[in-house]
Amino acid sequence: MTEAPNTVAFTPERLAKAREIIARYPEGRQKSALLPLLHVAQEQWGWLSSEVMDYVAGLLSIQPIEVYEVASFYTMFHLEPVGKHVIEYCRTGPCCLMGGEDVYGYLKQKLGIGAGETTPDGTFTLKEVECLAACGWGPVFQIREKYYMNLTNERIDEIVEELSK
Ligand code: FES
Repeated sequence: MTEAPNTVAFTPERLAKAREIIARYPEGRQKSALLPLLHVAQEQWGWLSSEVMDYVAGLLSIQPIEVYEVASFYTMFHLEPVGKHVIEYCRTGPCCLMGGEDVYGYLKQKLGIGAGETTPDGTFTLKEVECLAACGWGPVFQIREKYYMNLTNERIDEIVEELSK
């Protein structure tokens, strides 16, 4: 887990990237860069503390509340410290009909944590999300940009073992 940073500033590389993103939008429309900037911030700090969101608001010359309301709407943004691997599993109907509840139950039992929790060693965080748009291949979970589909207990064993290395 990453603790809240004492001093909040992008690395020079990420600041350059942020400036390039902001420059894509016309003067007065900088808020349009908010989502990509939050991704850059989460890439650097692992999660979005209020200090980080305030920093992003400053870069865009908008109010912090405008950042909070967007960051808290999307489940892909983490508003608390998370583990090294955030497993976002789809709990929507079609995945549940494909055996999701049993598979996710097995996953929780294997990791010893529930939704919204992180393993004591900081390796895994479990997060419940709605449809990941891969309904035909459920049950499904996502870790960053990678999708894991057609999940079974055996597949869970393989994935957890691989990611625990
Ligand atoms: Fe699970 Fe759509 S219902 S991906």
